[in-house]
Amino acid sequence: MAYELPKLQYSFDALEPYIDAKTMEIHYTKHHQTYITNLNKALESYPELFEKNLEELLENLDQIPESIRAAVRNGGGGHFNHSLFWETIGPKSSNGPTDSMNKLISDSFGNFENFKADFTEKATKQFGSGWGWLCQDNSGKLVTLSSPNQDTPLSSGLNPILGIDVWEHAYYLNYQNRRPDYISAFWEIVDWRSVETKLK
Ligand SMILES: [Fe+2]
Repeated sequence: MAYELPKLQYSFDALEPYIDAKTMEIHYTKHHQTYITNLNKALESYPELFEKNLEELLENLDQIPESIRAAVRNGGGGHFNHSLFWETIGPKSSNGPTDSMNKLISDSFGNFENFKADFTEKATKQFGSGWGWLCQDNSGKLVTLSSPNQDTPLSSGLNPILGIDVWEHAYYLNYQNRRPDYISAFWEIVDWRSVETKLK
């Protein structure tokens, strides 16, 4: 079955003033949709791949036929990354990480502030377009990293649980070149309950 845009759980203006409604609308209806359209188009020549789930495709990019591998990496990665992004942010709430999530963060980074500084640095320093990530590795430990373009940590054997889109299309209308301001606003809209559901 062809991939479709997942339903957003909040309205375009629900993340204001941290992410403005116009950015949300264009980002979701145009950018995310384009990744999905390109992924579907690529898979049309190998329809049997529609039977695998997206995670499986991205975890095993080397098994994708070479003629569509880049399209699956970009379109499929774009679809997966954006879906996770929409799910793990939401209208501002006072809910921070739960005690168990906080413990996991402290075990991995020392404390929450260290984690936040680490994640912020990775996201800020990602040169050009890409993502900043919090992922779980094979041992269950949390790690931060950044990735270029639409590359997803799934393809490196990691389980991404929180990501920030640092492509300019994610923030330019409201923040122009001020990526650090956008990253700092991001913390206000992280939905930690949802992040926790991504743990394996
Ligand atoms: Fe994006």
